[in-house]
Amino acid sequence: MTKIKWNDRLTIDGGIIDVDHKTIIGVTNQFMELKDRADKNELTAILSDLEHYARSHFWRESQLQRKIGFAGMDRQHEEHLNLVRALANVVSRFHAALKSDEITGVVNEIGELLRGWLIDHILQSDIEMVANRADIVAMSAGMSPLGKADGDPGLRTIGSELIHGLDIDGGLIDDDHAHLVDIINDFILAVAEGGETDHLQRTLKTLSSYARDHFSREEALQASVGFPLAVQHQAAHQELMIKMASYETLLGSRLNVSRAKKELCVVLKDWLLNHIGKQDANMRPYVAKIRDAAKNLQPMEKAMLW
Ligand SMILES: [Fe+2]
Ligand SMILES: [Fe+2]
Ligand SMILES: [Fe+2]
Repeated sequence: MTKIKWNDRLTIDGGIIDVDHKTIIGVTNQFMELKDRADKNELTAILSDLEHYARSHFWRESQLQRKIGFAGMDRQHEEHLNLVRALANVVSRFHAALKSDEITGVVNEIGELLRGWLIDHILQSDIEMVANRADIVAMSAGMSPLGKADGDPGLRTIGSELIHGLDIDGGLIDDDHAHLVDIINDFILAVAEGGETDHLQRTLKTLSSYARDHFSREEALQASVGFPLAVQHQAAHQELMIKMASYETLLGSRLNVSRAKKELCVVLKDWLLNHIGKQDANMRPYVAKIRDAAKNLQPMEKAMLW
C-alpha cells in the first residue's frame, strides 16, 4: 500500500489542524511501511500512538468547532466519535488475533480504514472548515502540537492495547465498562488540553454518576447469581466513590487544582484497569448466570461526551 503524501489540497488552517493532520498521516505511513514486516509488539506501539493521537485530535477539533460555532460541528462530532470507535474496534481485534494469517488480515483492514477515513474525512468534511480559517487560527493560539504530552504517561488516554483483555460478559457489563473508559479518556483529554476546572468538575460528576449506576447494577447482578466475593467487591466500589467525592471537593476548592487534575488522570486510569482486570475478572466463572440474570436489562443511557 502506497504512502499518503501531504499536498496543498489537504490544507485547512495553515496552523494547528494541519500540524495534527500531518502527525496522524506520519504515524499512519509508519504503520503502512512496517505492517508487513514488523512484529506484533512494534505494531502495538504504533497503533497505541495512532489511537491516542486520533482521540486527542478529534477531541480538540470538535472543541474548536464548537467554540467558533462551525455549522457542521454536530455532523463532525458524530463522525469523529465513529472514527475513533471504528479504529478502537479493529485494533482490539488486532490484539485478540493469535494466528499469523488472522493478524495479517486485521492489519490490512486497519490499513484500509486509516487510508479511507484520513483522506475522506479531511478532504470531504474538514475541508469545510477552510471558510472559518481566521476563527480557527485565533481560537487555537497557544495549543500544543499532538505528542507534546508524550513524556507524561499520566496524560496518555486508555487505548485498546490496555483494555482488549478486559472483557467480562460480552454484554451489559462490558458495555458499561466501555463507557467508563470513554468518560475517563474524556477527562484525561480535557486535562491534557488545559481544560477549565468547571469543565473537569462536570466530567468528574458525569463519571461518578455513571459509575454509581454501573456499580449498583453490577452488585445486584452479583447478588442474584450468588457471587462469593460480593462484599469485598462492594467495598472496592465504595472506595472509588469516596475517592471521587474527595477529588470533587478538591476541584471545587480551587486549591492545588493543577496537581489534583493530573493526579486524578492516573488514579482513575489505574483504578479502572486494576478493578476490571482483577476484581471484575473474578465474575468470569459466573458469566452464564449473569447473562441470564441480565437478559431483560437495557444498556444504561450514555453520557454526552466532548
Ligand atoms: Fe474533523
Ligand atoms: Fe464493573
Ligand atoms: Fe466492579
